[in-house]
Amino acid sequence: MNPEIERRRTFAIIAHPDAGKTSLTEKLLLFGGQIQVAGAVKSNKIKKTATSDWMDIEKQRGISVTTSVMEFDYHNYKINILDTPGHQDFAEDTYRTLTAVDSVIIVVDGAKGVETQTRKLMEVCRMRKTPVIIFVNKMDREAKDPFDLLDELEEELAIQVRPLTWPIESGPRFQGVYNIYEQSLNLFRPSKQVVTEKVAVDINTEELEANIGKNLADKLRSELELIEGVYPEFDRSTYLDGDLAPVFFGSALNNFGVEELLDTFVEIAPSPRTTRTEERVIQPDEAPFTGFIFKITANIDPNHRSCIAFCKVCSGKFQRGTPYYHVRHGKTMRFSNPTQFMAQRKTTIDEAWAGDIVGLPDNGTFKIGDTLTEGEKLHFRGIPSFSPEMFKYIENADPMKQKQLSKGIDQLMDEGVAQLFVNQFNGRKIIGTVGQLQFEVIQYRLQNEYNASCRWEPLSLYKACWIESDDAAELESFKKRKYQYMAKDRDGRDVFLADSNYVLQMAQMDFKHIKFHFTNEF
Ligand code: G4P
Repeated sequence: MNPEIERRRTFAIIAHPDAGKTSLTEKLLLFGGQIQVAGAVKSNKIKKTATSDWMDIEKQRGISVTTSVMEFDYHNYKINILDTPGHQDFAEDTYRTLTAVDSVIIVVDGAKGVETQTRKLMEVCRMRKTPVIIFVNKMDREAKDPFDLLDELEEELAIQVRPLTWPIESGPRFQGVYNIYEQSLNLFRPSKQVVTEKVAVDINTEELEANIGKNLADKLRSELELIEGVYPEFDRSTYLDGDLAPVFFGSALNNFGVEELLDTFVEIAPSPRTTRTEERVIQPDEAPFTGFIFKITANIDPNHRSCIAFCKVCSGKFQRGTPYYHVRHGKTMRFSNPTQFMAQRKTTIDEAWAGDIVGLPDNGTFKIGDTLTEGEKLHFRGIPSFSPEMFKYIENADPMKQKQLSKGIDQLMDEGVAQLFVNQFNGRKIIGTVGQLQFEVIQYRLQNEYNASCRWEPLSLYKACWIESDDAAELESFKKRKYQYMAKDRDGRDVFLADSNYVLQMAQMDFKHIKFHFTNEF
């Protein structure tokens, strides 16, 4: 493989809110020399208040633009960290980001263990066979027993685990972590602010006793023996296949165990992987450039309306000013201002390699999933939309601004902010989201960016199902029977809006030849 591509590590850090994703990201940036002191990266959490205020939403938008991708060089590696929104109402955004990464680090709170979001995100990783590393955080607080935690991870996340570092106690007694992979022990002085001096300790000598005392030294040696007895040796290829998750322990806040994680990560994590399209599989070191859009975000600066489309380079080299083929439009485009991101900064770039993420200024030319190539007609697959959880009718609140509203809705849907369905019975537009916050964002953005106002009308639905059948007659009779609940998605496909689980089950029983899908890619 081309060494430029080989040295790239493109990944996302995912976690249940509050597990410590922001803190870990920050420490990685610290090691990468991107920031000098901690506290520079703001948390992208929206606090869970009953009525979230607009400042928070603005912050969410802001952060997602400026820190969507963080890049830095570390040793000989080029690191690309893709940020994902902290709030679960933006889960869809996270799923899409996961289509652009080659591996994932999951952060788990050592006291809480596996939480709901962790489980859901792991399912997405499993579906895509994404290699996963687990970082058990907050070991400086009283945590669960590490052996129990390993069992819990294995069971709840349905993946084989293998510790590669091991904590020496937790809570106030926490001393640091032993690096099983490198067979070395570094004791750090805790520091929330900077990378501290480390003390290398040889655990096979009295040096260990001198540093952590006899009791802990004995305990560490016997636990390590137990680990070697219970867990099979770490096998990188099983990890790369997505079947085994190496586990690291530490405290992101105090910078314990983070360097161990990072050093091992760059060594074992995959370089850019292959990409699936409808036509064929793309190898990262094919010479021609190919890439796809996995995320579009609005500009933080209200004076500049244009969005940024994030393109994952799947193969070859992207070059500034070179004409590329936009497959969906069948048109050639040139990008004179592609950007890359360094922590908080954004810079124009001349080239990017497979594995990198390029920000392309966008005035409505892109849709999630669009493919760019040097001329080959490829259609990227693998960014499904899932059935929304919440639905509302969207109505125009200002008759003079009908056009603005339609345009705004169209563009926001292209960005993947939510999903639009049109009820075939009454012609009304329905917006489907994962959570309430998205409705607020849509209303706010329609007003601010498109000068259009909308009203929501409640609609109680259970799921949207994409339907298909080989039995045309049965499909027709179903659509006739359910005419009030039939809608079209933006691609003109038939969607059944089930108002309850019961209704859906009855429909599945009565119409045996119809397939009901909960995602739009099947
Ligand atoms: P998130 O992005 O996954 O939501 O988590 P974030 O890093 O924002 O961390 C959530 C909270 O947990 C923060 O506290 C953070 O300081 C704390 N935290 C993160 N890592 C550790 C750790 O290793 N040990 C301990 N003890 N705490 C940790 P907060 O009170 O919500 O925010 P702040 O006031 O500290 O900023």
